[in-house]
Amino acid sequence: MDVHNNNKFPLEIRDVEPKLAAELMKYFTGEHTGFVRVGPKGYFLPDKYKQEALNIYTMDVRHSDIFVASYPRSGTTWTQELVWMVANDLDYEKSDAIPLTERYPFLEFSIFVHPVMKARFHEENSHSPEKLRLLELVSQPGTEQLAANTSQRFIKTHLPMSVLPPTLLEKGRMVYVARDPRDVAVSFYHLNRLIRTQGYIGDFKMYWNFFINDLHHWTPYFEHLKEAWQKRHHPRMLFLFYEELTKDLPAAVRRVAAFLDKQYSGEEIAKLCEHLSIDSFKNNKSVNYDVMKELGILIPGEQGFIRKGKAGGWRDYFDEEMTQQADRWIADNLKDSDFRFPHFSI
Ligand code: A3P
Repeated sequence: MDVHNNNKFPLEIRDVEPKLAAELMKYFTGEHTGFVRVGPKGYFLPDKYKQEALNIYTMDVRHSDIFVASYPRSGTTWTQELVWMVANDLDYEKSDAIPLTERYPFLEFSIFVHPVMKARFHEENSHSPEKLRLLELVSQPGTEQLAANTSQRFIKTHLPMSVLPPTLLEKGRMVYVARDPRDVAVSFYHLNRLIRTQGYIGDFKMYWNFFINDLHHWTPYFEHLKEAWQKRHHPRMLFLFYEELTKDLPAAVRRVAAFLDKQYSGEEIAKLCEHLSIDSFKNNKSVNYDVMKELGILIPGEQGFIRKGKAGGWRDYFDEEMTQQADRWIADNLKDSDFRFPHFSI
């Protein structure tokens, strides 16, 4: 499949020390081999990343490609639907008919489907050929799905820019969305409990400590953000904030429209904002990851994929010690950077 086998992935991939990995796997029960750290920033990913690193780094980016990128739980799904609708002349029919997961291959999801888990899902769904087909689809490497795509490609990824194709912004375009890391952590904690490929069984406080100590997938969080932030003025990059979408969604829609050279009336924008509201998202089967539910990959009784949809909900989860710890962690990470969240006063 890979036509670039002569190339080498340029960043070092190091195994996370086996003892530490074993300890982490007690809490993240979806992983069964271990973890790696990638490159000088040490991005933390499952062991299976080794199989996809080069394929992703050397994938052919096309001029019409649009990547929607983020650290997980930053409003990716929301941004994906916004971008797709704006790019596709507000085609509500098609958006309803084709699930977001099919409109946007998730570039690296296959590395999170460990063979042990895949065998389990396979067995549980073995009565239904259609479900087995869906399982194959969600666990197929994103690069393979994308290579077969002949129309304009929309790509979801949580990978940081340094491990994506270096030609990405020369050829394609990226919309990156960032969110307050405290809300990200709460939201990702719930997703880690919900989705069996992560299978997290600890509490929030422990989870928060993994997150800020870079012992969690796709961390270090601030390095991820800063890599994209450095490119925010690039004409083929649009940098958004979740908090900006919650505060003034029509303005965010207009930014996306300008980025994609589209023009819509006030009425059209108002209708799109209605379509993008959290309440309509909750009832929209096309965007709420029903495929994962159907395959039994989501644990019943946990909070859903589309959850509260609010900024600032972290306050209900942080005690005084964690609040101070968060303040210090954020300040330390912003010390030598001009990165600022729009809702922060500092
Ligand atoms: P919460 O768990 O805080 O509610 P991602 O798509 O990157 O995984 O991000 C998921 C977060 O975005 C979740 O946050 C989810 O509820 C929120 N979200 C999804 N759709 C939304 C919408 N239409 N409006 C506001 N928030 C939305």
